[in-house]
Amino acid sequence: MSGVIGFDIYGTLVDPLEMNEHLRPVVGEDLSERFSELWRNKQIEYTFRRGLMQRYEDFDTCTRQALVFAARALEVDLSEQDREKLIEEYKNLKPFPDVIPGIEAMKAKGHTLVAFSNGVEATARTLLDRAGVLRHLENVISVDDVKTFKPDPEVYHYLARRLERAPEETWLVSSNPFDVIGAKAAGLLAAWIKRKPDAQFDPWEIEPDLVVPDLEALAEKL
Ligand code: LAC
Repeated sequence: MSGVIGFDIYGTLVDPLEMNEHLRPVVGEDLSERFSELWRNKQIEYTFRRGLMQRYEDFDTCTRQALVFAARALEVDLSEQDREKLIEEYKNLKPFPDVIPGIEAMKAKGHTLVAFSNGVEATARTLLDRAGVLRHLENVISVDDVKTFKPDPEVYHYLARRLERAPEETWLVSSNPFDVIGAKAAGLLAAWIKRKPDAQFDPWEIEPDLVVPDLEALAEKL
């Protein structure tokens, strides 16, 4: 039977740490890497905290507030103009080189492929369209519809419902271990895209069903 597959966006289809390049002219060579990592880590932390507190604000807000935090923490004087430019660049992230060929190969096998993200649907669509990925996907499904974030089991069950399959027949594909573990804990199938050889998976005794380095390797297995 052909599968239904939800792809995480940030870190899986596009690389948020690419923001490094856009940060360099604003914060300087020495800080740009630390800044982009802190920005990304805070953004994710904000989603976890908002989910737990049941004080949902969308991913665009988390991204913006994390950017303000990173600038304050690293004592960077970020003008409003810089901030808006960086937020705009966040919609211009490029796909990893394996993404389009991998997705095409999976599509050729008859699988139903969607993006499944914390990201607000309109923002995610803009990003994926600019990245040339949107036209290869059947849909973009956002946690924004259920007003909570990964790894709340509710969002994974929502993905399965939208794809009209049981959770145990629905795949989540992500480079983010917390996402893979969240999907598995909610009863889905999950593939971990181990994009870096030294990437670590949390030792929670919840294992992915598949571990592959990229989407082309995934297409060979699914
Ligand atoms: C997403 C974040 C978790 O796209 O990367 O959902």
